[in-house]
Amino acid sequence: MFSFFKKKESPKAVEPIQKIKVDMHSHLLPGIDDGAGNIEQSLFLIRRFIDLGYKKLITTPHVMSDFYRNTPEIILGKLEEVRAAINAEGLDIQIEAAAEYYLDEFLIEKLENNEPLLTIGGKYLLFETSFINPCSQLLHAVFLMRSSGYIPVLAHPERYTYYFPKYNDLVYLIDKGVKFQLNISSLTGYYSKQSKKIAEKLIKDKAISFLGTDCHAPKHLDQFKKAEILPTFHEALKLDLLNNSLLD
Ligand SMILES: [Fe+2]
Repeated sequence: MFSFFKKKESPKAVEPIQKIKVDMHSHLLPGIDDGAGNIEQSLFLIRRFIDLGYKKLITTPHVMSDFYRNTPEIILGKLEEVRAAINAEGLDIQIEAAAEYYLDEFLIEKLENNEPLLTIGGKYLLFETSFINPCSQLLHAVFLMRSSGYIPVLAHPERYTYYFPKYNDLVYLIDKGVKFQLNISSLTGYYSKQSKKIAEKLIKDKAISFLGTDCHAPKHLDQFKKAEILPTFHEALKLDLLNNSLLD
């Protein structure tokens, strides 16, 4: 019988629809960009990732002609240093390295010369542009990346201020074969209110292929803890994310 006095069930904790096991955007290699400054800081951050439940990290040092002229040799050399420290400490996590390429003349030149670039999972090329100024070479660079067999992945599409008033131009890049990686910290409003708004819209429009921490320092993983209880984070976890396809 229908009862007006049916006891209300107390809300249950929402279980995430999937757990992100692979982070594919971070700055954990010591002393080669604006992330971890030394091996102790690298290990500190890696331990925090383990505590958050990550099983694999594909770390992505900046490659930028003006500031960080990192080469595959420098990056892979540092990776070996970190791997040795992880083994020495007996930490249970896999680590690989790729790069976050800044879209500048240096990158265009490498693409035009078919120089080997570091990729995530053997095919995804993570790149970023200026946060403030639109890059006139963007579509040309995307064309070159695809012609070379890479799948371009735009880091934190929600953070480029020049796209704030041009959302349609931003998502047009998906039609051009670009995949989007959202920074989890954007969901808390850590970068700006506007970035948060764009992040939420991209999730609603199912425009995101990867979630990343873009961890440079412990504060970014503190933001992860704040983000993981947000409804928007749970909405993002319902998307067809590619993070876990990067597990071996
Ligand atoms: Fe980054």
